[in-house]
Amino acid sequence: MAQFAAVMRLAELPLGGMRACMLGGRELLICRTRAGVFALDNTCTHADARLSEGRLRATRLVCPLHGAAFDVRDGRVLGAPAETPLPTHAVRVAEDSIEVAVSPAAA
Ligand code: FES
Repeated sequence: MAQFAAVMRLAELPLGGMRACMLGGRELLICRTRAGVFALDNTCTHADARLSEGRLRATRLVCPLHGAAFDVRDGRVLGAPAETPLPTHAVRVAEDSIEVAVSPAAA
């Protein structure tokens, strides 16, 4: 069973914002949207760009390097040149704490 671990406080992440963090040796990106809080890998599946340096528009995450777009809700590709979905991880918000369980399938 997945283990949840606190990664940051909800108050540290404004609505519409995103922030990188490390968990279990893996760099994650936490996105806070009107649809909820989501956790994904922070590395683009196209090449080696940090998505935390890109843009978040509603639930659309755009890579800073070549402009690929992903849906933060499920990691699916919304725009080229990426073809591989972005691994996502389970999130829960407990009180003011954002907790993430890294997906074993994505490890
Ligand atoms: S590295 Fe993200 S689109 Fe190329």
